[in-house]
Parts: sequence; structure tokens; C-alpha cells
Amino acid sequence: MYKIVEKENLNPTVTKMVVAAPAVAKKALAGQFIILRVHENGERIPLTIADYDRVKGTITIIFQIVGKTTMLLNELNEGDSILDFVGPLGKPSHVDGLKKVCVIGGGVGCAIAYPTAKALHENGADVTVITGFRNKDLVILEDEFKQVSNHAYLVSDDGSTGTKGLVTNVLQDLINQGETFDEVIAIGPLIMMKFVCELTKKYNIKTIVSMNPIMIDGTGMCGGCRLSVGGKTKFACVDGPDFDGHEVDFDEAMSRGATYREFEAREREEACN
Ligand code: FES
Repeated sequence: MYKIVEKENLNPTVTKMVVAAPAVAKKALAGQFIILRVHENGERIPLTIADYDRVKGTITIIFQIVGKTTMLLNELNEGDSILDFVGPLGKPSHVDGLKKVCVIGGGVGCAIAYPTAKALHENGADVTVITGFRNKDLVILEDEFKQVSNHAYLVSDDGSTGTKGLVTNVLQDLINQGETFDEVIAIGPLIMMKFVCELTKKYNIKTIVSMNPIMIDGTGMCGGCRLSVGGKTKFACVDGPDFDGHEVDFDEAMSRGATYREFEAREREEACN
């Protein structure tokens, strides 16, 4: 059992939990994820490691309450325990050798972008962060991003915080101003990552995206997390979750992501009753 040592609601639908998991914390690196199960008959869900503390032996997870399992997880409080907490899984993000990087986070994807920005910053890279949210009530990790970046830009769809617009508008402006980046790292909704990649492809800027498809076993056995990358089938859990964004078939990923939406909505409704 894995004890929840801290819980904080970051916004009405996003929760942060710090979980005691010393063995995971000992090996965790930015970009990796865990798979947890709330109870014995519960589904297994992957969540990216948002932070880790090797001394305290804790892992921070940040999740959006979107389905039955995240609802059940959100019902747990400090002092409660999570049944299974397996990790670290997946390959860590590549941060070595990068000098100037633009990290883009969209919505709850910022929880994944944050440890990558932090790792790059600790590695001495010049880090530009662009974060985007639908509105001011959904903003997370604003101060944390400022601490791990040289330049931080915030945008919102409705203009209620930061600049009104999309993350791609800011990136385009920076490129127009002559900014160059060794790499752009985009993490967020598939549609956002797709448009970031379309933009960076025009300027030949290497772009890494973090893919978060449905996962079951997390070990490359079930095939649930498969994606097409460069015309080949890849498994996000063992080959990723980071991939070359210019090679990812986003349209296929979006169509696969929608497959279980109806089922998920039904499960969530049942859990609410
Ligand atoms: Fe089963 Fe990746 S989660 S192959």
C-alpha cells in the first residue's frame, strides 16, 4: 500500500497528490510514468511522474478528474493509501546536450511538461516555457514554471489570464522575432501537439511530444498503447512516451483515443450514482 502524504486541489478538476513510494522515487526521472490501481477490482491507469523526492521517498502525481478511476482516486485523502503504484515506467525524457529549448504545455499536460522543464533547467539549458489553458480557473503550476524557466509565457483561450490566444501563436511570434531552439517539447492535448508539430516542421525545429494513450499492462504486452510513428507501430509504454512529433500519426491517435469515450462516460455516470 502506498500512503498519500499530501493532497492539494490545483483547480476544480485537477488534483495533486504526493505519494510515499520510496522504491519508485529512487529511480524516477523526468518523462517517466507510474501505473496505479485504486482498489483490487479497479482499472490500471498511467500517470506521469510530476515530481519526485529521493530523500523523502515520494512521488508527485497530478491528475485530471475525467473518468471513474480518477474520481475514485480523488476521493482519497491524506493518510489514505493507494493499492498498487508501479514504476518508474517508460523511457526518461532526453535532456542532455540541449542548450536552448522551448517547452510547451497545454492544460493538465503542464503537469508532464513541468518535470521536463525542471530537468532541462537543472541541466543548464535556456528554457522558454509556453503554457496554455482554456481560462484562468484552470491554470496550474504557474509559479513553478517561472522558477524553472528563463522566459515564461501564459496564454488562455478566452483571455481571462495571460495573453488571449493559443500556444502556437506565441511560438510563431518568437520564431518571427528570430528566436531559435535546439528542440521544442510539446505536451498536452493531441490537437495542440499536432498543430505545434505542423508549425515547427515548417521551420525544421526538432519537436518531441509526450504521448499518453490508453495503457493496460505498461510493459509492451497488451498492445493497448500502440501508435504509428514514422509508419511503424510503437508502444507508448516501452518505446515512449516521448516521440519525434514530426513522425507521429496524430489523426490515428485521436481516433483511437475516442474509442472508449462513451464507455468511460457511462462508467463515470454509474460511479456518481
Ligand atoms: Fe500494454 Fe503498452 S500498455 S503494450
